Amino acid sequence: MFEPRVALASLSGESDAEWARVGSEFAGAAFLGGVALDEKSRAAARKLVERDREEFLPEDPLSFVAAELDALGDEPVRPAVNVRSATLPPVREAARLCADRDAILEVNAHCRQAELCAVGCGETLLRDTDRLAEYVAAAAEAGATVSVKVRAEVEGVDLGETARSVASAGAEAIHVDAMDSEAVVRDVTEAAPDLFVVANNEVRDGESVREYLDYGADAVSVGRPSTDPRVLRRVREAVDEWFAESNAERPSADESNADGVAK
Ligand SMILES: Cc1cc2nc3c(=O)[nH]c(=O)nc-3n(C[C@H](O)[C@H](O)[C@H](O)COP(=O)(O)O)c2cc1C
Repeated sequence: MFEPRVALASLSGESDAEWARVGSEFAGAAFLGGVALDEKSRAAARKLVERDREEFLPEDPLSFVAAELDALGDEPVRPAVNVRSATLPPVREAARLCADRDAILEVNAHCRQAELCAVGCGETLLRDTDRLAEYVAAAAEAGATVSVKVRAEVEGVDLGETARSVASAGAEAIHVDAMDSEAVVRDVTEAAPDLFVVANNEVRDGESVREYLDYGADAVSVGRPSTDPRVLRRVREAVDEWFAESNAERPSADESNADGVAK
């Protein structure tokens, strides 16, 4: 999916190519956006701006996605884009743009602002897994590598079930904002072992990195301090250290028999 196993997580209105460049030295992937793609989600984003939140509202969101992904072309990170949409066709279009650029299309089932939820975006998709699965399937059929951004602690939502459902719809990754429930990462990895799991929320240092990786995450991501090189360096070093230790504990091909069991 990406190496090193550190990602920069979307901050609406801030996470463009220029933002990604600041942290690219430390990260293997950069999730741009979130970008509102269709008229309903853009109307919701406009309302958010009216109450002083930052949002991307370019004239043409798909051209914006293409341009920002292209602008990351020379950086050593895998580009990704987090999208919101109340309707399916623009998700398919954005996925085509991602497929052409080997970028990850991330379906946002995470944002909890009332304006976005009211038009069926973000967190509402967690309670409407059929529609979420339709978005994932359309994006995967368009050829993109698909991730789904989810949030823990949403009443009535079992993220293990969500993970299974998006995996069978064609998602390859799930990006889990664990909130204050870090162990949810273990539920997700156990429920859908084939998904690449990116753990998120308060990843800041060795302790938080080890906790998520010990729960089975394949990578971690950093949101709010994603332009702070001190945090990113600490996180990157802890991730590299954890994988070096876990590789050393695993027997190499020379030391194991054909079944992978240590001799
Ligand atoms: C101002 C702000 C804007 C955000 N915008 C988005 C977004 O558009 N899409 C999304 O999936 N997550 C969004 N997030 C969530 C972050 O990507 C991340 O999941 C969250 O901040 C927890 O990670 P952190 O503790 O590393 O910041 C936003 C968070 C903040 C603080």
